[in-house]
Amino acid sequence: MSTTATLDRERVRQLFDLRSSYNVHMGGGYREDPYPVWHRLREQAPVHPGIVHELTGFDGPAMFSGLPYPDRPHFSAFSYAACDAAYRDPEVFASAAGPVDPNNGPYGATNSMLSMGGRQHRRYRGLVQPSFVPGKAKWWISNWIEETVDLLIDGFVDAGRAELNVDFCAAIPVLTITSSFGVPVDQALDIRAALTRPDEIVRMLEPIVAARRADPQDDLISILVQAEMTDENGVTHRLTDAEIYSFSVLLLTAGSGTTWKQMGITLTALLQHPEALAAVRADRSLLRLAIEESLRWSPTDPMFSRWVTEDVDFFGVHMPAGSVLHLCIGAANRDPARWDRPDEYDITRALRPSFAFGGGAHVCLGMHVARAEMRVGIGALLDRLPDLRLDPDREAPRFIGMYERGATEIPVVFG
Ligand code: HEM
Repeated sequence: MSTTATLDRERVRQLFDLRSSYNVHMGGGYREDPYPVWHRLREQAPVHPGIVHELTGFDGPAMFSGLPYPDRPHFSAFSYAACDAAYRDPEVFASAAGPVDPNNGPYGATNSMLSMGGRQHRRYRGLVQPSFVPGKAKWWISNWIEETVDLLIDGFVDAGRAELNVDFCAAIPVLTITSSFGVPVDQALDIRAALTRPDEIVRMLEPIVAARRADPQDDLISILVQAEMTDENGVTHRLTDAEIYSFSVLLLTAGSGTTWKQMGITLTALLQHPEALAAVRADRSLLRLAIEESLRWSPTDPMFSRWVTEDVDFFGVHMPAGSVLHLCIGAANRDPARWDRPDEYDITRALRPSFAFGGGAHVCLGMHVARAEMRVGIGALLDRLPDLRLDPDREAPRFIGMYERGATEIPVVFG
């Protein structure tokens, strides 16, 4: 794989810079720190009528799960306990407004396991779960992650400086997930560019699906092509093309759009907290804690939504059936009822699970892959770039974005 030779740097920048027009519709235009407002909202009440970005005072474009649906009542939860209660009750707080049929309708998240419930969700998730368990991390690392990370570092190691957010963090997850689908490197960015046009992704996947049907390989698309599922009537069958494509679009979207921003957040946190960076350098096992703390402190996607299936009184608020409840997991992750000094990035705090990867039955399928990408990526930077530090002559990284948060740029020098 010749990663650096074929990745068009300017195109990566356009597709992955949160400030670019490509990302503005998810709230990329939001430049403030939302956490003081979220603290205030949580202190007033755990659940509010309204939508997270409006309650935060942002009126720019901000699309995400559960939006826009202007005809439905909207509510938002800001405490850990309220988010936890919603995750624990998927009957009342469902992942979609109605039944999901991947054989009918558009390819993508709204027609995939992300939106399913109950047994249907378990059946579909069960098909791919074995490729995403912690024990499979080595498979991902040695097949795809390590090589990508090394080739990317080769591209800037001699320069003494680099911009790590786009030139490093952004490239790793998109290349990992597309490679695991057998998509050639020169098409990886086409996939990212087409994420809002799933039919185009399907056109790119069609020849790969056909090839893997004829000759399965050791990759994810071969697993989908060969997977057998027993439906509600007890009949066992291979996945249909439509089922495969909905699965694929979900995995490609979820796998390429998140980890790069979280890796950038973790790197920024370490570079801006020299004592934490020194501790991780001295004891590499602390990198795991540094990653978990970044997930708690600044989850890249701070809001996911649920559909209210029946009239319910929830933390003092009445929600009619048909409402949308937005779970502000960013606010929940800094709930002082669960964490002391919640605004501090502190890698020595006792590890308690946060909601960065969601909760309940839909907890992130790819979380161990994401963790492996961050661990291998940041670990390799520390191994290969001596005295890695922020470039004092460039603007320091800042976190921006409403529903997709991440760093502006991470300019570094080393050596
Ligand atoms: C740091 C990186 C990541 C974060 C913060 C993240 C976050 C999340 C969250 C919060 C959910 C739950 C959504 C909900 O409850 O509605 C989720 C679900 C999911 N994620 Fe991730 N994710 C990350 C990386 C990945 C990667 C690398 C993959 C694939 C390789 C992936 C695949 C999925 C899938 C398939 C689901 C749906 C699971 C289900 O519905 O059962 N994610 N993710």
